[in-house]
Amino acid sequence: MRLKFTLNNQVLVLEADPSMRAIDLLRERCGLTGPKEGCGTGECGACAVWINGETRLSCLMLAAQLQGQSVVTIEGVNQESPARMHLDQMHPDQLHPVQEAFVNCGAVQCGYCTPGMVMTAAQLLACEPAPSRERIREALSGNLCRCTGYHKIVDAVEAAARVMAGETP
Ligand code: FES
Ligand code: FES
Repeated sequence: MRLKFTLNNQVLVLEADPSMRAIDLLRERCGLTGPKEGCGTGECGACAVWINGETRLSCLMLAAQLQGQSVVTIEGVNQESPARMHLDQMHPDQLHPVQEAFVNCGAVQCGYCTPGMVMTAAQLLACEPAPSRERIREALSGNLCRCTGYHKIVDAVEAAARVMAGETP
């Protein structure tokens, strides 16, 4: 099947088996290894990407479902964000505020959950610029982390919200 979709702001056309999983297409055919496979059954959130601005689990999608869609992975989150109004002056290599906050707050240990966490958190902040800690925990409840105990992840999302609201870190 000839697939055509936008991937991290670039139009991509390729021949692919429409029945392969989207995560496999992204990792193996597109070379984007940011989306991780944890469970493969929709329970850990490590494979989260944005499809048309919504967070979706790429392990539960087929390649054919990407047809005509706009796909953003962790590799492109800093450049293609619903919170773009805050990102217009960003250098292409500059991290998204959520990525930066994860680093600064010590919210990354092994890092396996981090791409999915960042995608989910960045989408939350795009829709809800000032969520409570309880709301952050709720929004991230589909993303599992074995290392951090979640506290620093919630700290990071709060810190990113402040930066995106224009406060100095
Ligand atoms: S790998 Fe997709 S939800 Fe776990
Ligand atoms: S940092 Fe290791 S799973 Fe979250």
